[in-house]
Amino acid sequence: MANQNDLIRRLADDLLASESCVALTGAGISVESGIPPFRGKGGLWERFDPMEVAHIDSFLRDPARVWDLLLREMHSLLSTARPNAAHLGLARLEKAGILSTVITQNVDGLHQAAGSTDVIEFHGNFAWQRCMECEKTYSTPEVDLSTIPPLCACGGILRPECVFFGEAIPEHELARSFQLAARCGLMLVVGTSAVVQPSASLPQVARQHGALVVEINREPTHLTGSVAHYSLLGRAGDLVGAVASLVEQGRG
Ligand code: OAD
Repeated sequence: MANQNDLIRRLADDLLASESCVALTGAGISVESGIPPFRGKGGLWERFDPMEVAHIDSFLRDPARVWDLLLREMHSLLSTARPNAAHLGLARLEKAGILSTVITQNVDGLHQAAGSTDVIEFHGNFAWQRCMECEKTYSTPEVDLSTIPPLCACGGILRPECVFFGEAIPEHELARSFQLAARCGLMLVVGTSAVVQPSASLPQVARQHGALVVEINREPTHLTGSVAHYSLLGRAGDLVGAVASLVEQGRG
């Protein structure tokens, strides 16, 4: 069995040889920035039932409860989170001319903060809140949380520009992600359990169209040993950072 250093080298070589590379990221890439994942150890869904706090029907039924249980905490976590070595590593791979696009399921904006310039936010983002009455948008830091749910100047309730369970993925993001998956030469999948559809299908689509699929995750997922050609198990920050350094040396 190949050891970790061999796999890091192999991934760097595959990236250097690839004509077009995209990344698919999930909550695991932001764990080292202090944002808990949804599933697995320390995951949010250990504390909450996602259908109760992250489904659009729950939000519409009782927005104050969803703001209280989930969104207030997200507001505070995301306001201080900074990109970690994994976000920075993907931005370095873009700068080296290797990675074209990051498709992320995350709503934290950390890829853009790290310097990635083409980020598809598959599940929207938390950076903006929208009034459910008049559609006016507010940047999240300017939203006053002294009243829950927070309100627009018109009195309407504010909701994040995120995709709740039960809502459609934004059309453009959906179409572009599947096009890229079908066209890329290499898909690097980082920190996702790949169980939530339709994003979970992207690695499969990439593989069916001939791409090399490589996974980086703290633990094995159902992609490991199946859809992924090979997997690097460990912390995203260490692994993506190490791979980016080798790629930069290879380009230098
Ligand atoms: P998950 O929480 O399901 O999966 C995170 C993955 O990251 C798990 O496989 C962890 O083992 C792994 N992980 C944790 N820490 C890591 C680290 N330091 N380095 C590398 N990997 C690590 O998150 P997603 O797959 O992104 O959707 O979840 C998908 C969607 O489910 C989310 O976008 C959200 C959620 O419910 C909605 O709310 C619509």
